[in-house]
Amino acid sequence: MDPIHLNYTHSLSSTVGEDHGASPEELAGLAPELQRAQQAIEARRTQDLRWLDLPYQSDVLQSLLRYAESVQGQFENVVVLGIGGSALGNRALHTALNSPLHELYPPPGVPRLFVLDNVDPDWIGEFLDRVDVTKCLFNVISKSGSTAETMSQFLIFRRLLIERLGEARHREHIVVTTDAKAGVLRPIVEQAGYTSFVVPDGVGGRFSVLSPVGLLSSALLGIDIGSLLAGAADMDQRCQSTSMEQNPAMTYAALQWIMQERKGKNIAVTFAYGHRLRDLADWYAQLLGESIGKRCTTKGPAHGVGPTPVRAVGVTDQHSQVQLYVEGPNDKWFTLLEIGTHDHKVPIPADFQDRDALAYLGGRDLGELFQAEREGTRIALSDANRPNCSIHFPRVNAHTLGQYLYWMEYSVALMGELYGIDAFDQPGVEAGKIAAYALMGRTGFGDRAKEIEARQQGPQSEV
Ligand code: PA5
Repeated sequence: MDPIHLNYTHSLSSTVGEDHGASPEELAGLAPELQRAQQAIEARRTQDLRWLDLPYQSDVLQSLLRYAESVQGQFENVVVLGIGGSALGNRALHTALNSPLHELYPPPGVPRLFVLDNVDPDWIGEFLDRVDVTKCLFNVISKSGSTAETMSQFLIFRRLLIERLGEARHREHIVVTTDAKAGVLRPIVEQAGYTSFVVPDGVGGRFSVLSPVGLLSSALLGIDIGSLLAGAADMDQRCQSTSMEQNPAMTYAALQWIMQERKGKNIAVTFAYGHRLRDLADWYAQLLGESIGKRCTTKGPAHGVGPTPVRAVGVTDQHSQVQLYVEGPNDKWFTLLEIGTHDHKVPIPADFQDRDALAYLGGRDLGELFQAEREGTRIALSDANRPNCSIHFPRVNAHTLGQYLYWMEYSVALMGELYGIDAFDQPGVEAGKIAAYALMGRTGFGDRAKEIEARQQGPQSEV
């Protein structure tokens, strides 16, 4: 196994000063609370937090692999219709583990992947104009089976498939991932006879990447989902330790909480040093933001909590955001995702050796430059007392990805306990959904529609 690990030296007071870094005493002081949090989470493993056991679902793994094999070579494109937790993990796994040019040059017999997590008519309209739906397999993913964005896409593509292929054959182009019983999709699946997979009970959207939600499209694209789950299982074992020094989830959760609550770092930047890791940072932004961004009612008067997640990509954002990060407000905590060994080695030709500005590059390779730039950024941040840590991926593969996904999920669950909020609901998202239903005239939302209309009739400030 290739264990991924955390280096948090530059988040400590000994390196970035007491005002900005965690002291060993502050970290140790959280250990009892984290141990209680771990017990509370583990007590729910077989109850409502079933995502904790997703690494061990061997039957599901086999049925996903069987299905992927049965449709191999039949489709040019796999199209995910889903949003939020029903889309971000799919994209993150694909872009981390397949070629960045996969959609242009898919390997023989392997489909392209499109994750249509928006209802922007210019995007979907362009897709409809250009892509032949008869060459697509649509994976409709919705745990609730009622999300307006996903369901509208389902209606659009289903109708088109029926028009092009007929009632009977269109079914072969749709595979649904939804709740076993709840929601409107399940009865539609039963009625139409679509192939389907289950989002198990106790697996919320943003904790579902290791369920059929994230695994099906991965299996269809040839990702080693067995190894992904094995990596997650290995991380689960590490997260069982009651010692903070041995438990990466406890340490990361403690650092995040101290950074925001004690050091005023309200912004959590995931700085992905690896083009392949950029969408992991997007996935984590949802996990952190939607889980911890809550109204806290358990610690003093009700107040909002939660760090603001920000995504940055190295080295690209060195020429965009790093100026702000090094000299702007010291209100951020940085997690650099770093890769030990890249899959490619790209030498730089030793031309123009008489020019100092180019000579130092010649004979080196892009990996060396990439690493030097990453270290340069870390040094600049640390010298400016900006606390930062690194998550080191020895290599980017299914096993290390599985470790990372599970680690972050477990950390966020622990953070929920530290922040005193429910990390597993999303009332703020529901509020927006309800307003959209009202505006679209959904039955049962008439009163809300009237309230919104009355408010919109007030004076508007425009320029
Ligand atoms: O994390 C969550 O629960 C959300 O982001 C959901 O995944 C998102 O709202 C989509 O929900 P559903 O899968 O029910 O369509």
